[in-house]
Amino acid sequence: MPLSTEKILQIALDLAGLTEAPADTGIQVSGAHLEKILAGIDIGPAELLLARHLGCGLALAHHPTGGSTSLDFHKVIERQVGQMMSVGVPEAAARAAIAELQENRRLTANNGNYGHNPSFAKALGMPYMNVHLPCDIIGRAILDKAARSKVGPNGTVQDVIDGIASLPEYQGDPVQPVCVLGSPDNPAGAIFTATAGGTNGGAEVAKAYFTHGVDTLLYFHLAYDNLKKLRAMPEAAGKNLVLLGHMPADRVGINPLLAALEKEGAQIIRISGL
Ligand SMILES: [Fe+2]
Ligand SMILES: [Fe+2]
Repeated sequence: MPLSTEKILQIALDLAGLTEAPADTGIQVSGAHLEKILAGIDIGPAELLLARHLGCGLALAHHPTGGSTSLDFHKVIERQVGQMMSVGVPEAAARAAIAELQENRRLTANNGNYGHNPSFAKALGMPYMNVHLPCDIIGRAILDKAARSKVGPNGTVQDVIDGIASLPEYQGDPVQPVCVLGSPDNPAGAIFTATAGGTNGGAEVAKAYFTHGVDTLLYFHLAYDNLKKLRAMPEAAGKNLVLLGHMPADRVGINPLLAALEKEGAQIIRISGL
């Protein structure tokens, strides 16, 4: 069966072990008989025009592209509650740790021009979709395994970094995993990969992990203000935070989906971080 936007979504959900599309993932303009696909981490109006220019039948983004994928993005942050509870954070404390972040993202989306990108795709008649959380779930399993792969009984934070850096997506990339709190020489201790929760949980979520036994926490990224807040928290003393690097870490989760589409016969043109 030739690829359609719906079939691509199903392939992504199957790879991630999900039964339905999460709030941050969706089809803006449906398409069928897709052979040539323009894929990028961010796809907006300029890239939609590029897709048309290159004769592509679909523009496939990773990050939310507007519409409900942006307006309801805050809902996927909810996933972080379960992740925190898995290390023993009480549910009420886990919900409190994401409350500000969720409200911030809800307001930001509400204030934004949610129809901008989809309106371009509709006017162009260009099939357009994004797959966010499913790819981040696929990537989290790979990143977590790699993070532990070089850590022996007395392993250090540097061993965690080396494990991540050994993934193909990091080869030759100017962005590498970096320890921004603690030290690469510290023992790694208990490692937790806090990704696939919409976005990073900021200082409050990191504090929750650190107070419940996590020694080395892995985030995709963290804003500087949150890092400063975290460094000032007594709960973070002696703990470690490794930033995986947004683009290479995102690629780790997107590449398995693109490989599956290539197996189905699609030709992929990679742009925007891929
Ligand atoms: Fe991602
Ligand atoms: Fe991302």
